[in-house]
Amino acid sequence: DLDPQIEALIARMTIEEKAGQLTILADESRAPPDGVNPEFNRRKIDELLAEIRAGRVGSLMSSNGAAAGRSTQRIAVEESRLKIPLLFGADVIHGFRTVFPIPLGEASSFDPGLAEKTARVAAIEASASGLHWTFAPMVDIARDQRWGRVAEGAGEDVYLGKLFAAARVRGFQGSDLKANNTVLATPKHFAAYGAVSGGMDYNSVEIASQTLREVHLPPFKAAFDAGALSTMSSFNDINGVPASGNRWLMTDLLRGEWGFKGFVVSDYTADYELILHGYAANERQAARIALDAGVDMSMQSGIYASQLPKLVASGELPMSVVDESVRRVLRIKKALGLFDNPYRSLDSSRETLDVGTPAHRALAREAARESIVLLRNEGNLLPLRKSTRIALIGPLGDDKSNLFGPWTIFGRDSESITLKEGLALAGVKNVTVVKGAEIEKEIPRGIAAAVAAARKADVVLLAIGEGEDMSGEAQSRTDIIVPAPQQKLAEAVAATGKPVVVLLSTGRALALHGAVRNADAIVLNWFLGSESGNAITDVLFGDFNPSGRLPVSFPHESGQQPYYYNHRSTGRPVQDIEKPEFKTKYRETFNEALYPFGHGLGYSKFTYTDTGVSATTLPWDGQLTVKAKIRNAGSREGTELVQLYIRDPVASLTRPVRELKGFRKIRLAAGEESEVSFQLTRRDLEFVGLDNLWRAEPGEFHVWIAPSSASGELAKFELGAP
Ligand code: IFM
Repeated sequence: DLDPQIEALIARMTIEEKAGQLTILADESRAPPDGVNPEFNRRKIDELLAEIRAGRVGSLMSSNGAAAGRSTQRIAVEESRLKIPLLFGADVIHGFRTVFPIPLGEASSFDPGLAEKTARVAAIEASASGLHWTFAPMVDIARDQRWGRVAEGAGEDVYLGKLFAAARVRGFQGSDLKANNTVLATPKHFAAYGAVSGGMDYNSVEIASQTLREVHLPPFKAAFDAGALSTMSSFNDINGVPASGNRWLMTDLLRGEWGFKGFVVSDYTADYELILHGYAANERQAARIALDAGVDMSMQSGIYASQLPKLVASGELPMSVVDESVRRVLRIKKALGLFDNPYRSLDSSRETLDVGTPAHRALAREAARESIVLLRNEGNLLPLRKSTRIALIGPLGDDKSNLFGPWTIFGRDSESITLKEGLALAGVKNVTVVKGAEIEKEIPRGIAAAVAAARKADVVLLAIGEGEDMSGEAQSRTDIIVPAPQQKLAEAVAATGKPVVVLLSTGRALALHGAVRNADAIVLNWFLGSESGNAITDVLFGDFNPSGRLPVSFPHESGQQPYYYNHRSTGRPVQDIEKPEFKTKYRETFNEALYPFGHGLGYSKFTYTDTGVSATTLPWDGQLTVKAKIRNAGSREGTELVQLYIRDPVASLTRPVRELKGFRKIRLAAGEESEVSFQLTRRDLEFVGLDNLWRAEPGEFHVWIAPSSASGELAKFELGAP
């Protein structure tokens, strides 16, 4: 449907103005880089403002501040010829000023409702500070922990990924995109960015089309079904065609098959990079290929602004293609209410009222607690008593610059709570703090000081792991281990014989070794954000009973990557551990994960019994109930994540050994039992065939109700014929 206001505008626009609407540039007028010569800076700002005045820039990114945004917006809507409002975007990935756990951490909550709430708050704060648009959520499925951007998504599983993708979109966009406290969401990176070869960021992607459709695309579809109205084209190629020049992806699939009504923005200079991919000879060709493929907006390269006028003048690009992209962008500006109210998110009073509020901090604490995964707790070392003499050892026990994790451009380190501070706030008095090592460097006499402190303590809290810049964009690793200086520290501290609780910070699953792996307790903290120290303290002393579960598998060794629980069976699986010869395995390690997807402990113990199905056959058009009894056999109230997995043991394509199809978080008092049931229909059993179509096949299915992807009692049923 054509919108008369937008059509009238398009009819009046010059090709330069059209190219401007298809261009987003970094906003140096609102965020001048530090340390730059002020004269030079001023000149750059003036140049950018002149471009806006001339209508040659339609969107700005990576800045904030309502007052400054207002004055930039004023230039667009009062001084430019067509008075089209600017769109302000930024990477608001896991919170704005109030920083929530990294998305991978939050996925450990297995609570999409929580992710919706934190995205909502991120939108409230970002919009109060003058933003209309976030380049989030990242919905890439990540099956290789070497890839640094694992931190930004919901992990390795597609079912979980879909739920979190949709929830985050709902949170960002709210119920009314025109409301001044919502932001446009951008599920990214379209597509298959998480499938880069060897887990190396920006690398090529070789992928079967059924895997693409079955694993990597569904979270995008879920995000669009939840209302997302923009997406970002990824840096990688897919089987030789760069995503940012991929017409099949951006047009045939996205618009044709899925009916997407929003616009596509390129990743940062990804349109220009078609040249470096060797897919375009020069900027002119790159701009033509990208726009023609369906990439509507060019991020930061400036090649649409410089090339589209020439391409249209020469007839290489029909004006109708440009117009269609302009139409898509303007429609979204209108959907955001910018034509009626260009200052919708540029109200300085909201900035003081709505950012970093006590309620937002409370949610950050809740989200952080729910994201913590208790991996190991030998002899029930945890929870601790507050009177315990503690040695807090390690580089991450009191370091404000390593609490947020990657992509937190708007959070302030000074407003975060370290573990040392959290302990003090909770009244834990008997604490000696020793750094012992830097994240990637030894400290002279660091180990000696740590060992001395450990000897005088009842318990060591060993706060170690990755620094926050070791995961995220361009932070791929070959060896996903705790950095060597910290491993050395852990070995020395463990040798004192004192009980050790490892508090592990990381943006990905790690391969844990030696004293870290064998610590009495391991608390996985990811990067928990503003309220880190309070949340960890809540867990350590039992004020919160941990309930997080792994959204990624922890392997034994780095060399097992890519590693994911829902791999397909080979023709030579290890069936008998005593007879591993000529079977699918490595010489040096196990096939199983050290800690599988779905694993996590709490301070209660749950038992699973009576797993069963309501009938032996699931009729083709019917449903079937799978149920089990779950009992809290522990001595305190606790939360359990009850997980439903299926397997299709014989099919026309080899199928995963297990697939998550449902989960429920239940809270049971000590001694309480509850029956948990799931309904299955044919839809839950479908997979993508070689014809690229979803299909279910009649025959036997296996099903488990289980506390992790590597446990549970098997039940069976048949899917009846159509
Ligand atoms: O949104 C990001 C993207 O995820 C990676 N490249 C830069 C973009 C804009 O900052």
